[in-house]
Amino acid sequence: MNIKPTSSLSGEVTIPGDKSISHRGIMLGALAMGRTELTNFLEGADCLSTISCFQKMGIDIERQGSRVLIQGKGLHGLKEPDSLLDVGNSGTTTRLISGILAGQAFTSHLNGDASIQKRPMKRIIDPLTIMGADIRSDLSNDCAPLTISPSPLHGISYSSAIASAQVKSCILLAGLYADGPTTVTEPALSRDHTERMLRSFGADLISEGTKAVISPEPELIGQKISIPGDISSAAYFLAAALITEHSEILIKNVGTNPTRNGILRVCESMGAKLSYVNPSPTSLEPSADLLVRSSSLNATVIDGALIPTLIDEIPMIAVMACFAKGTTIIKDAAELKVKESNRIDVVVKNLKKMGAEIEATEDGMIIHGGKPLHGAVIDPQLDHRIAMSFAIAGLAAEGETTILHPECVTISYPDFFRDLNSLCPSSLF
Ligand code: S3P
Repeated sequence: MNIKPTSSLSGEVTIPGDKSISHRGIMLGALAMGRTELTNFLEGADCLSTISCFQKMGIDIERQGSRVLIQGKGLHGLKEPDSLLDVGNSGTTTRLISGILAGQAFTSHLNGDASIQKRPMKRIIDPLTIMGADIRSDLSNDCAPLTISPSPLHGISYSSAIASAQVKSCILLAGLYADGPTTVTEPALSRDHTERMLRSFGADLISEGTKAVISPEPELIGQKISIPGDISSAAYFLAAALITEHSEILIKNVGTNPTRNGILRVCESMGAKLSYVNPSPTSLEPSADLLVRSSSLNATVIDGALIPTLIDEIPMIAVMACFAKGTTIIKDAAELKVKESNRIDVVVKNLKKMGAEIEATEDGMIIHGGKPLHGAVIDPQLDHRIAMSFAIAGLAAEGETTILHPECVTISYPDFFRDLNSLCPSSLF
């Protein structure tokens, strides 16, 4: 995909469904009794991996575009898969499903692509093992492939060293099958979609600050869930409008859950012209439309408890920081190294290629903004979020930018280039 600078962005874009919520909708729909209907389900490759895993365990899942119908069979209704569960590129599928599989009366084998086989699984193997689970890394390297065999689970009280919704959710889902309540405490609050959705399906789950407690063996009941647009996908358009001149766009149906909306807070602190239209504060997940205009941005500091609320948006924020006045510091974000790629290295390397003044640190990066970017050939290392962030950088850089392997965006946003093109026709070719 080639990108040339645009003179402006204008129009409206409707954001596809939230990836995290889409995964959870399939999982809880499968474990509930009766029918669950998901609308605005994200048809990205990661969520399709979750569907195929549950279909292999005997769950009837019908896709009608972004409407998905799941015939749940209850907590104990999954059947033994007759082959390996393929999680593809999806860390969320791997870690969340492991919690569910730990509670089953059958053995399962999980594996995914080359990136998944490098991602750390000790963070779930340890707490699940303390609960009594029999979970092994087949190559003894604390990564997938994983084998999970039947073993009784006990309720535990676990203090996680990292603020990770995948770890928290894995433990809470295993807690559904334990012999007593399970408590997870994190150092800072990560996205709480699992807690919200478990409650809406009827689970007994209490959260208080950074602590969540789940009681075992609830009767989960199928639900109708309308999934808001993914704020992580909205972030690309938000940044694009902010860093290009003469732009004004409306980004429709964006999830604004406070545990996910750090990007909005950062944009505001950088001086973004951003307003919320039609807010819809539903009990499950709030959403709003975002009206964004070109803005002159100032540098900022991003750290601490803010990090988990925008962890997936950091590549895009790093690009934005190149267009801001002053020095932006991102710290406490060592987790970036173990995402779909090492996002500290890949962001810094590619932004340097475009002429940015940026340096990597142990747990983030330092960006000296204000130096114009120029086009370059970007290798996103098959990381969807890197590909999309640098496509946006290309719109505001001088000359042409080429994104290698642009098809990797199908992981979270299959129609990304079509939607971007609708806002700035003739910049993508
Ligand atoms: C996710 C949690 C985050 C995020 C990932 C999706 C989830 O990962 O980066 O894209 O759906 O729970 P961690 O839990 O590893 O921080």
